[in-house]
Amino acid sequence: MITSHFPKYVAVFALFVLSVGALDTFIAAVYEHAVLLPNRTETPVPKEEALLLMNKNIDVLEKAVKLAARQGAHIIVTPEDGIYGWVFTRETIYPYLEDIPHPEVNWIPCRDPRRFGYTPVQDRLSCLAKDNSIYVVANIGDKKPCNASDPQCPPDGHYQYNTDVVFDSEGRLVARYHKYNLFAPEIQFDFPKDLELVTFDTPFGKFGIFTCFDIFSHDPAVLVVDEFQVDSVLYPTAWYNTLPLLSAVSFHSAWARAMRVNLLAANTHNTSMHMTGSGIYAPEAVKVYHYDMETESGQLMLSELKSRPRSEPTYPAAVNWAAYARGVKPFPSEQSDFPGMIYFDEFTFTELKRNTGNYTVCQKDLCCHLTYKMSEKRTDEVYALGAFDGLHTVEGQCYLQICTLLKCQTTDLRTCGEPVGSAFTRFGEFSLSGTFGTSYVFPQLILSGSQLAPERHYEVSRDGRLRSRDRVPLPVLVMALYGRVFEKDPPRLGQGPGKLQ
Ligand SMILES: *[C@@H]1O[C@H](CO)[C@@H](O)[C@H](O)[C@H]1NC(C)=O
Ligand SMILES: *[C@@H]1O[C@H](CO)[C@@H](O)[C@H](O)[C@H]1NC(C)=O
Ligand SMILES: *[C@@H]1O[C@H](CO)[C@@H](O)[C@H](O)[C@H]1NC(C)=O
Ligand SMILES: *[C@@H]1O[C@H](CO)[C@@H](O)[C@H](O)[C@H]1NC(C)=O
Repeated sequence: MITSHFPKYVAVFALFVLSVGALDTFIAAVYEHAVLLPNRTETPVPKEEALLLMNKNIDVLEKAVKLAARQGAHIIVTPEDGIYGWVFTRETIYPYLEDIPHPEVNWIPCRDPRRFGYTPVQDRLSCLAKDNSIYVVANIGDKKPCNASDPQCPPDGHYQYNTDVVFDSEGRLVARYHKYNLFAPEIQFDFPKDLELVTFDTPFGKFGIFTCFDIFSHDPAVLVVDEFQVDSVLYPTAWYNTLPLLSAVSFHSAWARAMRVNLLAANTHNTSMHMTGSGIYAPEAVKVYHYDMETESGQLMLSELKSRPRSEPTYPAAVNWAAYARGVKPFPSEQSDFPGMIYFDEFTFTELKRNTGNYTVCQKDLCCHLTYKMSEKRTDEVYALGAFDGLHTVEGQCYLQICTLLKCQTTDLRTCGEPVGSAFTRFGEFSLSGTFGTSYVFPQLILSGSQLAPERHYEVSRDGRLRSRDRVPLPVLVMALYGRVFEKDPPRLGQGPGKLQ
């Protein structure tokens, strides 16, 4: 088991529970923020210039916080990198960092701004929370001095961490989370030595928190849900969409559904970087989402969520992902399989040749079964069923088992797996399943224009089939069962603690 790779982890529990009555539901808000980027990131800027830029971003976030609070929101999530942007080096991020204390110090920066040195960003975020009586979740940079007594201390004498902070509705710092699985290009930050599982209690349920690339991990993403039974997860991200399988709203909503928790996902917005896609996802349904490749504007979303979904009658049952697929014989195949790449992984594909049919495609231990009916077999569009069972090794390592039905970019089979935006072929019936060797499978259904399919049109059955519900013909772009086999992962998704040197 992957967990056995870690000798220890730090569990951070809620220290300050409000004695207010419990709420059955709450209003969640997420803000997709078009981050104002620094003028330069190749050479260090003076602290005042860094602060000027951060304050400009907080000015925008402040408007969203106020608007959300006026509409009754209890908590608002803002994106990863939302206060200073990206493409830094270790040296050029430094003026943007603050020393962020452990929440056990019981600190309301807005009341006591000088207690831990010069912390203008934390002071301002705390005041935003306090003055508007709302929990505020933000992503900022932490710096922690170290010296030669610590053999891993970087030569410049401090650690730098990608950090989420949460201020409660009184402005108190109640959570601090150091991103554990850094994405490979994040050279400006250090990997924390120990895994942190950060949770805190509120009158509207128990919360966990992690950041962006962590969502592919067992630790902390799965662990914080399975071990601590949190109700809702706070998720700042800076996610660039890469179809077919890694579109933000589709992946994040699939994760919430499979893990059976609320997920509040706030993404950055920058269309040239393909960054868009935020939402509020409940275990049984997508509550609200935003995907916008047309404008450069931010967007506030609000939705009511159940505070403790696990104790609701509507709480979905656990899925046995291989139950159906292991019980059926592979459908006989009439034509040859062919290879195709999806985001550096070589899938085995087979083409759907008719308007109705049964197909099986296998790779290693994984066999994917599809039964489908199209309204018509168009000559200008080609669909393929694909299987992948292997270690993904680019930008971090993770072991995947994936079944996918997708539209090929052109009618040339060599383009199967390449991104494509629109589809005209409609599927009235479908059932996709696979012989997964994991219970962590994230089901996705993306329609033409990168829109999510409404839940009324499809379902995930308890025996692991992603299938149509009402025969309404859907213009399917991608359908996928995205499985993670954590047991076969290397110790950490990112490049490992070697980065500390
Ligand atoms: C970036 O440059 C513009 C134009 O020179 C200037 O007005 C602005 O204040 C600068 N922004 C920051 C954060 O320094
Ligand atoms: C070095 O770091 C340790 C632990 O952080 C601290 O206790 C000690 O005072 C530091 N020593 C010097 C010389 O700064
Ligand atoms: C989007 O990000 C790119 C790359 O960092 C940057 O060059 C561009 O100015 C950004 N666009 C906007 C509208 O900020
Ligand atoms: C697909 O399989 C089902 C039974 O699993 C069968 O009823 C149906 O006729 C098959 N369809 C085709 C086109 O072979």
